Amino acid sequence: MRRAGSPLHVYAHLPICRTRCPYCDFSVTVGEPDTQQRFVDGLRAEMNARQRHWDGRRPDSLYVGGGTPSVASAEALDRLVDDIEAAFGEFSEVTVEANPEDVLDDAAWAGRVPQSVDRVILGVQSFDDEVLTRIGRRHDADASRASIERVVEAGASVGVDLLFGIPGQSLADWESELDALGSLVDSVDLISGWELSWDQFEPPEAFHSVIEDVGARPSTGVRRSMLDSLDAFASEHGLEKREVGVYALPGVRRRYMEGRRRGHECLGLGPGAHGLALSEHGIFQQSRVADPGAYLDDPTGRPDTSELSPREFLFVRICQGLELTDGLSVAGLHEQFDSAFGSDRIEKITDELLERAPDLVERTGEDGRARLVPTPAGLASSDRVATQVAALIPS
Ligand SMILES: C[S@@+](CC[C@H](N)C(=O)[O-])C[C@H]1O[C@@H](n2cnc3c(N)ncnc32)[C@H](O)[C@@H]1O
Ligand code: SF4
Repeated sequence: MRRAGSPLHVYAHLPICRTRCPYCDFSVTVGEPDTQQRFVDGLRAEMNARQRHWDGRRPDSLYVGGGTPSVASAEALDRLVDDIEAAFGEFSEVTVEANPEDVLDDAAWAGRVPQSVDRVILGVQSFDDEVLTRIGRRHDADASRASIERVVEAGASVGVDLLFGIPGQSLADWESELDALGSLVDSVDLISGWELSWDQFEPPEAFHSVIEDVGARPSTGVRRSMLDSLDAFASEHGLEKREVGVYALPGVRRRYMEGRRRGHECLGLGPGAHGLALSEHGIFQQSRVADPGAYLDDPTGRPDTSELSPREFLFVRICQGLELTDGLSVAGLHEQFDSAFGSDRIEKITDELLERAPDLVERTGEDGRARLVPTPAGLASSDRVATQVAALIPS
């Protein structure tokens, strides 16, 4: 399953946020920089304890996510990245998530963007100050604009996260958001539109009790039109669609996100972090305890581990690959799975998928360059793709 020198991605989770947004269900806890620093120290201890299990990999990408990593100082983040790189080698891509107010805050980043970082993903979410207040954010649209400028001046790339499908939001409101982004788009190389979900709340109506007087959730049809507007906006500004709601400038890699979809190994550090280990002993999904307090009590504790059978992993690999617009390489599938299934069986699975679901999946390229790629319908309906793949690879 794994070759010597195969790519390794590291995800490091810093869970502290200054306040908790009512719609957020990530592994997050409210606190101040000194508590974030305890998590930075915890990540370092965890990395030191687990590093020896990951020898022989080629460092590919490092992603520091949260929570709000930017609650830690730029210096603390630089030291963390330096220590992770000292342990694994230099990564081809280092990304950190940041909230606009921290990038500008004297006590947080003090106008100094971490130098070890290639891309900062800014949680802009909206350019409408009233919406930002309504969804519990601490910044305004001017802070987003200034933080984008600050990161560009520091020489790092900027990714922007936006939320759509917010209760009370109309299609025209969303298109105004895109107009506002239009004047900044030359400074940005990656845009992710997140459809606001709150099905994770139990019951989902609990969300409404937190955000009062919000109006109705936009209908499915309106939410689909919002994505269409985002598609049109991106193509008008020369950005390529990479997956549903995600766009990047031509040539820009998203090594971490793509690597995960391509079944590369990942070491997940920090509360709630997930990872994947491939070895001669099997395929293992790993996850650390999600509760931030429990994590701090035992940062070097062992991750929970569950083994995937080769069939389960093949299913995941095909489904996740087909969530990317450029799909997955057929040669890559053979390389990863011929030893478990034989080349003929892999060939048969790909051929049968194309036969069964021509409306969802197509083949591009010849011979060694052949790829399975989703059609627009396949990209929009991952559930239907999964049903077709599951029928070919019964567990
Ligand atoms: C977990 S946050 C971490 C980064 C940063 N703290 C922020 O809020 O931008 C990463 C992304 O998840 C999105 N997110 C959080 N809760 C969400 C939800 N319920 N539905 C959709 N996106 C959500 C955020 O809007 C953000 O862009
Ligand atoms: S700032 Fe980001 S991670 Fe923190 S609560 Fe809000 S959405 Fe969640």
